[in-house]
Amino acid sequence: MSAMEQTAMTVHPTARFWDRIAERYAKKPVADEAAYQKKLQITRDYFRPDMEVLEFGCGTGSTALVHAPFVKHILATDISANMIEIAERKAKAGNVTNVDFRRGGFDELEAADSRYDVVLGLSILHLLADRDEAISKVHRLLKPGGVFVSSTPCIGDSMAFFKFIGPIGRVLGLLPLLRVFTVTDLKTSLIGAGFEIEHEWQPGKRKGVFIVARKPA
Ligand SMILES: C[S@@+](CC[C@H](N)C(=O)[O-])C[C@H]1O[C@@H](n2cnc3c(N)ncnc32)[C@H](O)[C@@H]1O
Repeated sequence: MSAMEQTAMTVHPTARFWDRIAERYAKKPVADEAAYQKKLQITRDYFRPDMEVLEFGCGTGSTALVHAPFVKHILATDISANMIEIAERKAKAGNVTNVDFRRGGFDELEAADSRYDVVLGLSILHLLADRDEAISKVHRLLKPGGVFVSSTPCIGDSMAFFKFIGPIGRVLGLLPLLRVFTVTDLKTSLIGAGFEIEHEWQPGKRKGVFIVARKPA
């Protein structure tokens, strides 16, 4: 069954939103190329050729495919079948063989504890119903000493009014599920789960915060 046929069946409401915009999302240029390149480089400095990496909310797979040559294997997952279909197309076109794309919500992902060296969650934590649950799961899936690399719009700091218009936009199908929290809230969640924050960078006031957090060895 193709991803498009799966999409026609009953799908998670969140997946429906992202399925609908997947082709447009794939064509959209990166908003801040310099910041994106810097985040790629910082992330790459953590990679070793024998590493197992997980990315959740991978979208159309661009970041996983760029990182692929620097690690052993990447499992990249996303709730949207259409995003995954585009990602697989790109992997095939680029002859990338060490990235497996898999459709599924992060809460559904089954993996052994301490399985991964690095977990990537880029522009995704604000889209999850329960970020604390997700962060705890990341902590559990990481090896001791492993790192969680995240980039997260914390709109509670600059656009807290989204708390009110977000749910309306969602009912109208214009917005996905969107959680409003601050950088401080996010750091509190990470530290509460047992992470140590190793690197923090916010390219601008209204830009997502890039955090590398380590699970102590
Ligand atoms: C803003 S996009 C970010 C995509 C990619 N990480 C990037 O940085 O370009 C958010 C992605 O998260 C996915 N997503 C949303 N909720 C999810 C969930 N609960 N589990 C897994 N993926 C989810 C969406 O389908 C979408 O592809």
